[in-house]
Amino acid sequence: MSRILLGVSGGIAAYKALELVRLATGAGHSVRVIQTPSSRRFVGQASFEALTGAPVLTGEFDHDPFRGAFPGEQPPAHEPIGHLEIVAKAELLLIAPASANTIAKLAHGHAESMLSTAALAARCPLLLAPAMNAAMYEHPATQANLDLLRARGAHVIEPESGRLASKGEEGVGRLPEPAALLAACEAILAGAAGAGAAGAGGAAGARAASAGGADGSGAAAGAEATAGSARQSWAGMKVLVTAGGTREPIDGVRFVGNTSTGRMGLALAEAAQARGAQVSVIAANVSLPKPAGVRWIDAPTAAQMKSACEREIQDADVLLMAAAIADFRPASPVDGKIKKRQTESLTLQLEPTADVLAGLGAARRPGQTLVGFAAEHGEQGLAHARAKLSEKHLDAIVLNDISRSDIGFAAAENEVTVIAADGERTIAKASKRAVAEGILDAVQRLRAAT
Ligand code: CTP
Repeated sequence: MSRILLGVSGGIAAYKALELVRLATGAGHSVRVIQTPSSRRFVGQASFEALTGAPVLTGEFDHDPFRGAFPGEQPPAHEPIGHLEIVAKAELLLIAPASANTIAKLAHGHAESMLSTAALAARCPLLLAPAMNAAMYEHPATQANLDLLRARGAHVIEPESGRLASKGEEGVGRLPEPAALLAACEAILAGAAGAGAAGAGGAAGARAASAGGADGSGAAAGAEATAGSARQSWAGMKVLVTAGGTREPIDGVRFVGNTSTGRMGLALAEAAQARGAQVSVIAANVSLPKPAGVRWIDAPTAAQMKSACEREIQDADVLLMAAAIADFRPASPVDGKIKKRQTESLTLQLEPTADVLAGLGAARRPGQTLVGFAAEHGEQGLAHARAKLSEKHLDAIVLNDISRSDIGFAAAENEVTVIAADGERTIAKASKRAVAEGILDAVQRLRAAT
């Protein structure tokens, strides 16, 4: 059982943090809570204190009667520095809900409240659960701040889509259900290795059991007919995602590669997980933080991608083939390092790789939904993508226009066209997470129609 430090920032979803504390303490974890001043407008400290059995801290100079100890522990004999002692003891810092303001402060290293100061001093893993209005979440400033925090190693459990607090509004920004948050905490606490399979199953189960509820609306689960319940309906489904770009060795240190970062693939993985699916990611050279609770398999080359895909596709219900896989590789990679003095000029002989997706499409079994991604340049893009749809025996292909530098490869945003047998739908330019939601909606429609 672990010491979880919970930071609660301002937002209507703060009420879910109470249930999270109840579940976490019920599961045997020892929990301390730091609230931001504005979160106290939404939920009072007395409730957290009753549930944790420990004082809540808010101001940087608040006296901590527990002297940084977690419930069940002896406080130190001396009077420690509050924000340092509490994080030194914590095994995980979870901030749920993480408001846009708190995320911005963390990204830029502010230290003006107990929460921001403690976060700056924390050496334990940090898990952020953003929750806010969709426009605020999708704003490039928030996305850039989250990217910065991810790049520094923070884990982010993506918000869900559905009804938002503001009347009549729908979109991405809902705090995941408390059971899913606890499952993500436990997956991180269990360590990266164990987090894979155990975390995925745990999160899926937790989400299935806790579907429903709308931030701030007080509405019952049944009221979410179109958004919430439909969006939780991937529970029990297995989703395989490929992400990143392969690197084909020239010698021991050089390679032929591409600029794919894996961001689109990870956005798809996180979105599928948020819908309750059990998600495996086959990653080609992805250096982004691994989403909590997904099974992660590294496959840096086209050949490794092929064998991992052929193994993992067996029990997958949905394949989202977002990886950029090399079509050619050096025919005779050299052991060690090619020395410039040994050769006047260097000609690389390339040989074709196998088309992994075409192979999976040819061997597909009933009930599977296979989605490819087509990186196309210019006017003929649509025609080429349509040809790939039929040649590779796919249910849908997602067309990326690589002639534009503001979207697609290595950009934060994307705009795509999803092409299926029944027609085409364009998903307007938005964050990769929002585009991922649109792609999953298309997959859901296709599966419902079969
Ligand atoms: N793909 C694959 N194996 C390869 C190359 C591509 O499985 N050796 C998959 C990609 O993951 C993607 C889809 O096929 O989902 C289309 O990839 P793309 O690069 O757009 O097309 P190619 O089939 O490689 O054709 P071309 O490069 O000529 O456009």
